[in-house]
Amino acid sequence: MAFLASTPPGFISPPSTSNKKSLTSQVLLNGKRGQHFKISCNAPNGETRSNPSPSNSQSVETSSAIKLDRRNVLLGLGGAYGAANLIGDKLALADSTNKPFPYPNLTDCTVSYITGDPNTPNSVQVPYTCCPPTPADSPQPFKIPHTDQKRIRPAAHLVDDKYIEKYMRAIQAMKDLPQDDPRNFYQQANIHCAYCNYGHRVSDPEKGTDYLLQVHSNWFFLPFHRWYLYFFEKIAGELIDDPTFALPYWNWDTPCGMTMPFMFSTEKSPLDPSKSNPLYNPKRHPDHFPPAVFDLNYRGAASGLPDLTTVCNNLSFVYREMVTNAYDTQSFLGTPYYFGDAAPRGTGASELLHNPAHIWMGKPRTTDPPTYGEDMGNFYSAGKDCLFYVHHANVDRLWRVWLEQGGQNFQNQAWLDSQLFFWDEKKNPVYVTVKDCLDEEKLGYTYQPTELPWLKAKPIPKLEKEDVAANSNAPSVANAFPATLDKVVKVLVQRPKKSRSKAQKKKKKEVLVFEDIEYPMDEFVKFDVFINDEDEVGELMSKAEFAGTFSSVPHGHGGDEDRVLLSGFKIGLGDILEDLQADDDEYILVTIIPKNAGEKVTIDNVRIEFS
Ligand code: C2O
Repeated sequence: MAFLASTPPGFISPPSTSNKKSLTSQVLLNGKRGQHFKISCNAPNGETRSNPSPSNSQSVETSSAIKLDRRNVLLGLGGAYGAANLIGDKLALADSTNKPFPYPNLTDCTVSYITGDPNTPNSVQVPYTCCPPTPADSPQPFKIPHTDQKRIRPAAHLVDDKYIEKYMRAIQAMKDLPQDDPRNFYQQANIHCAYCNYGHRVSDPEKGTDYLLQVHSNWFFLPFHRWYLYFFEKIAGELIDDPTFALPYWNWDTPCGMTMPFMFSTEKSPLDPSKSNPLYNPKRHPDHFPPAVFDLNYRGAASGLPDLTTVCNNLSFVYREMVTNAYDTQSFLGTPYYFGDAAPRGTGASELLHNPAHIWMGKPRTTDPPTYGEDMGNFYSAGKDCLFYVHHANVDRLWRVWLEQGGQNFQNQAWLDSQLFFWDEKKNPVYVTVKDCLDEEKLGYTYQPTELPWLKAKPIPKLEKEDVAANSNAPSVANAFPATLDKVVKVLVQRPKKSRSKAQKKKKKEVLVFEDIEYPMDEFVKFDVFINDEDEVGELMSKAEFAGTFSSVPHGHGGDEDRVLLSGFKIGLGDILEDLQADDDEYILVTIIPKNAGEKVTIDNVRIEFS
C-alpha cells in the first residue's frame, strides 16, 4: 500500500483492544447537524484527550464492511452510510493510546476545497493541485545542521535598503525557480494549502484507516508554522547564497509596526521604480495599504474609529491573548490532537491572536465573480502572499516571548514526537519532529529585540463599577443556551465558587468555557466577549470588560455543510473579575457580541470551570 512507503518503520504502536471512555470533556466532530459524535476520555497523564464514539442511535457500520470515497472516510459525511457514525467507529478502533502523528502520506495528497460539500455541485475546489511534489524516495529524518552563523530576523519596519535588496532578490529567486521545483515560491505556498485545507492525510497501516490532517485549531499550530518558516528561510538564503539571510517579522504588536510594512506596499521596487517589486501582491485589501492602521479587532469592515483608538485597542487585544487568555500551555498553544483524532479541537490564544492579520490583509469577498478573501484571507491561498511569512515570523516570535514570560511548552510525548514533512533547501525530502523545533538557538535563528508595549496595556477598569450582574435581567444559561449569535447574547453565568483566596487562585484559574461552538469552516467568523459590561457596543478593547475574541479564518474542508465544531474556546477570568470588583459576586453577566457571520454560529453552553 502506498502509505507504507512513507510511514517510518517502527512508528505505529501496537493496537490496543481497550476502548475506555470516561467523561472529562467532550468534543463534537464535524458532521450533519444532529449527527455529531461526542468524544471523551481521560488520558493517563491527566490531560484531556479524545476517544470518539457515536452519539446518535444509528447503526454503526464496521470498518471492514465499508469501502468509501476517501474523503467521506475522512470527513464522515454524505453517502448512504450513517457517516458520522462510521468515522466514530473507525476512530474508536484506532484511538486507544496517545499516538503522535506520523508525517502525512505523500503519495496520497489530494485536491483541496475552498468551500462546499465535494458531493454537491456547490463545492469549489482549489483550481490547481496544492500538493507539494511527491518525493521519489522516502523522506529522511532531518538533521539540523550545525551553524555558527546566526540568522537574525529583523523587524520589517526597521530594515535598511541593503536588507530590502537582499530580501527582494531572494523572493524573486524563489519565484523564478521551475514550477515543479519544491522550493519554488508557489510550491512553498502549496505546502500551507495542503496542510491547512485538507490535502494531506495520515494512515494507520495496522488498522487500514486514515485521517485528515489539520494543523490549525490544535497544538500543531505553532510548531508547524515554525518549521514551515525555517525551510522557507533556508531556501531563500540558499538561492542568494547567503546562509545568514533571515526573514523579517511584521512587528504588529508595537505601534510603529501597526501598518503593512512599507516594502510590501508598492507595485514598483521601493529601491528602483523601473523594476517591479516581488514583495508586492495585488490580492490584498485595497484599503489596507499604508498608512492604514492594522485593526486587530477587524470585523470585515472598517470600524470608523480614530487611528489612536485602534492602536490602543490593538495593544489591549494583544495583552488579553498573550496574558489573560494564555494562562496555561493548552490555552496558548491549542488543544491536544492525537493520531486518530478526526478533527481540530480547540484554537489556542496564539492562533486567535494571529487570525486578524489574515482577514485584514485579504481582499474582501465578492460573489460575482466569486472570490474568497484571497490571498491572506483564506488558508488555501495565504502562502501566496509574502506577508504571510512575515506575519508568521511575528507569531513565532511571540511564542518565544510567551515562554520568556513564564509560559511552558507541552511535555507530552505524542506532541514532541509528531512528525511533519518538508522539502529542505537542497531539495531533499525530509521529515521533522515537533521536539526538534523547540529551541530556536539550535535552528540557528533569533529575533531582533523589540519593545513589548502591550505588557503595559492591560485593559483598564473604571473607578467605580455598578453591580452589573445583580442589576441585570439577562436570562440564565439554561434559558439562553443553546444560542445562535444572530444578535447580541447576554446571559447570567453562575460561579461555582466565589471569593477564593490568593493561594486558591494561584492553584486553579477561573475560566469561562464556551462549549461546542459550531460554525461554518469556510467563512470568516468572529465574536467578542465582554464581562459585566453596561453596554453592548463592543468597540473598546482597552476597558477591563473586554475579555476575549473568537475568530476563524476560512478554510474549506469539503465536508457536508462545511461546519465545524470546537469545544476549546476559553477565557481566563481571574484578573478581569478582580478589576471589575466582581470577585465576590455569585453571577457574572456575559455579553457575546457577534462581529461577523454570527447568524451561522451556535454555542451549546457556557459555564465556569477551574483549571
Ligand atoms: Cu496556517 Cu496564519 O496560518
